[in-house]
Amino acid sequence: MSDLNSIDALEAEIAAAVSVAPDLAALEELRVSALGKKGRVSLLMRGLGQMSATERQQMGPRLNGLKSSLSDAIASRKQALEYAELEQRLANETLDMTRPVRLGPLDTGRVHPVSQVMEELAAIFADMGFSVAEGPDIEDDHHNFEALNIPASHPARQMMDTFYLPPRDDGTTMVLRTHTSPVQIRTMLAQKPPIRIIAPGRTYRSDSDQTHTPMFHQVEGLVIDTETHMGHLKGCLEEFCKAFFEIDAIKMRFRPSHFPFTEPSAEVDIGCARVGNEMRIGEGDDWLEILGCGMVHPQVLRNVGYDPDEVQGFAFGIGIDRLAMLKYGMPDLRAFFDGDLRWMKHYGFRCLDVPTLAGGLSP
Ligand code: PHE
Repeated sequence: MSDLNSIDALEAEIAAAVSVAPDLAALEELRVSALGKKGRVSLLMRGLGQMSATERQQMGPRLNGLKSSLSDAIASRKQALEYAELEQRLANETLDMTRPVRLGPLDTGRVHPVSQVMEELAAIFADMGFSVAEGPDIEDDHHNFEALNIPASHPARQMMDTFYLPPRDDGTTMVLRTHTSPVQIRTMLAQKPPIRIIAPGRTYRSDSDQTHTPMFHQVEGLVIDTETHMGHLKGCLEEFCKAFFEIDAIKMRFRPSHFPFTEPSAEVDIGCARVGNEMRIGEGDDWLEILGCGMVHPQVLRNVGYDPDEVQGFAFGIGIDRLAMLKYGMPDLRAFFDGDLRWMKHYGFRCLDVPTLAGGLSP
């Protein structure tokens, strides 16, 4: 009988310890010390073998009851502890859905206005059947001047404030191209008419003030075909201006001018109005020069092996930075190339706002 009492006491003791086991590890320790191979309950059960039949009849069921009640107590404590642990984790790991999302590089990075305008130009001229051509920034005298009908003595060479590189071993001197017109020559040498290309890129002249930087950007245009005339040139440039400035009507003025590589030549002004600090494009009594153009000079055609009696064409050269300043209202060209992030954040474009004619050129 005293054994039965001590079993009650043992059950109470272990059950009490189980009910306050602080964590799963402590609970497991308790389980091993009671029900494990050498646990207190297991040892008691092993003692059954030495008991008399009557004793065993009494103690057997009691010990089995003890074992199962302790197993149940341990299992339910285990469940409670696991549940508490999960609750704790859920509480710690909650997400605050109202917090703002941190912006990634796609949202914070900006496309430079010059790159943006180049994309716009490509979209507009692609729609008119032009493809994009390229040439090197470092040019030889022949492509930059000679083949364009600008001989060594020509005053245009001084006009362009050329950057010359140190003479090479073979005596020739390379230049930083003063305009994108050498790409006309390279394209005509590499392709056969009909030709329709634009060539955007960097150009260099020793010049610096609010509207001039030593490096700037131009886009060259060249069309060569069997029947091309000034009317085509005019129509093409008018279409371009309307598409670029996104207006239906634009006042344009073709002023007679002179370039050694075109004849006749013209400079094109667009109408504008200064209203306070703002510049309105397309209307008003002021004029702004935006490009040079003309019919390709017969001598230039001969220089690339074309017969001027069979093919002719027109060419134009537009200042890209000037276009960007006009369209997007930047007052100082020099800031384009300062690399100031605050300027980029203000004037730059989001990288996924790719200009298309269908979707809109400017965001
Ligand atoms: N290359 C000329 C310049 O830089 C522009 C131009 C290009 C003029 C093509 C006529 C034809 O001033």
